[in-house]
Amino acid sequence: MADGDALLELAVSIAREAGEMLLAKRPARPEVLATKSSPTDVVTVLDRAAEELIRTRIRQARPYDAILGEEGGETPGLSGPSGEGSTPGLSGPSGEGGVRWVVDPIDGTVNFLYGLPDWAVSIGVEVDGEIVAGVVHNVPRAEIFTAVRGGGAWLAGERLRCNTGVPLSRALVATGFGYGAERRRVQAEVLADVAPVVRDIRRGGSCAIDLCSVAAGRVDAYYERGANYWDWAAAGLVAAEAGARVAGLNGKPANPELTLSAAPGLFEELHDLLAPLDPERG
Ligand code: IPD
Ligand code: CA
Ligand code: CA
Repeated sequence: MADGDALLELAVSIAREAGEMLLAKRPARPEVLATKSSPTDVVTVLDRAAEELIRTRIRQARPYDAILGEEGGETPGLSGPSGEGSTPGLSGPSGEGGVRWVVDPIDGTVNFLYGLPDWAVSIGVEVDGEIVAGVVHNVPRAEIFTAVRGGGAWLAGERLRCNTGVPLSRALVATGFGYGAERRRVQAEVLADVAPVVRDIRRGGSCAIDLCSVAAGRVDAYYERGANYWDWAAAGLVAAEAGARVAGLNGKPANPELTLSAAPGLFEELHDLLAPLDPERG
């Protein structure tokens, strides 16, 4: 079995290094390299450079592991000599069925572009298909959220606990919007049903930080349609280890149809508000 604590330690050191590189190299207005799904879905030179740095460090430490990165896609794992991982203390089958790293080099790229202080390096580590360790490094705020499955969620030496006992009517709810114009129009319609029945809405600009904010009690809940696995792989574990439920609609695991997180009770209330809405809405 690969050791979650050892995997987390490596993930944290890589997320720190990538964050330092991004801070050092971030110009006043980072250059937009390309657009992805829509003209507003940007990727900067530094998104790609950060992912390359992260991939290089993972390969140096654990050459046989699989990597899924937002910018570089899927790199399958390899069978190591005698099927073992490469780092002492991290033994276990690597590659397929073993360890896979799930990387969003900058979550909150638009904040990064505009100099807003909420963007993060997000690294989750799966063993046999289950995330066992995760780090979300909010670089501008120098906050490093971590979790190991079964070991709690942590920030600056403090164990995190999500808010409990908050009814929907008093919940501060974070959400996000996709990059496509039609998706956003529908999301705005759903928001029109949610905003009147909660305390207020926040749109922070980073799914990973939103989920860590649920963990830290900075918001009560988060939902978004269209978030991808790399957005919430690490932060979903942070929220879950802080006591929040993290799931999709109707008992499904979180998925691009819906990622929803809140303490039990509020989770169900918000779920039941969102579920009857057309699946194409939200
Ligand atoms: C985006 C952010 C945003 C969310 C979008 C994501 P990116 O990721 O997490 O908060 O609303 O759905 O795509 O593009 O900044 O890595
Ligand atoms: Ca992202
Ligand atoms: Ca990204």
